[in-house]
Amino acid sequence: MADTNSEIIRQILHRSSEPALSGPAPSGQELEQCLSCALRAPDHALLHPWRYLVIEGEGREALGRAWQQAVLNEDPQASDALLAKAKRLPLRAPMLIVGITVYQEHPKVPLREQTVSTGVGMGYLLLALESLGYGGMWRTGAMAYHPVIRAALKIAEHESITGILYVGTPSARKGPTPVPALDKHVQHWPLP
Ligand SMILES: Cc1cc2nc3c(=O)[nH]c(=O)nc-3n(C[C@H](O)[C@H](O)[C@H](O)COP(=O)(O)O)c2cc1C
Repeated sequence: MADTNSEIIRQILHRSSEPALSGPAPSGQELEQCLSCALRAPDHALLHPWRYLVIEGEGREALGRAWQQAVLNEDPQASDALLAKAKRLPLRAPMLIVGITVYQEHPKVPLREQTVSTGVGMGYLLLALESLGYGGMWRTGAMAYHPVIRAALKIAEHESITGILYVGTPSARKGPTPVPALDKHVQHWPLP
């Protein structure tokens, strides 16, 4: 890949999601700036169809208990080991940021565009965090969609969790994923 003078291009090409996260997580002005980046996502008709929930400390423990309840609801015979694992899941990072799409009826903006806008915001948020030396991992999984979790987080009927960003400082480095080959994913039209 050719070198570049652009800091942001360099950052994007070398970025990596990091699953191994410990403290510190961002706070104060750093956190606010990163969240402001999420709010600058392209947004058809400026609907602002998103909100973000920051969960840390005891909030993670409460989320763990809710997820444990969800697992138990799915399988009343779930083993103690499985339940203990469920409870620990949100403790994998010191902070979780839940990106929620707040769907709005609009004649020109289908709902999927609103999901996309939240997704772009999540991406900007991740890049902003990484630029300050923090790490993040975007996860969904069953937890993002389960009614027990939706109720615990007070996700309304017209809302959907687009992603749960686990945030902290990398305690180990997974390393960047190779950039896929351009010719496998990009074509110039008209096609030959
Ligand atoms: C919408 C969405 C949901 C994801 N959910 C998960 C997940 O639940 N578990 C997981 O291991 N990775 C999940 N990923 C993928 C990781 O966040 C990450 O992108 C992937 O491991 C590749 O790593 P990289 O970003 O360093 O290339 C998800 C990504 C997206 C965009």
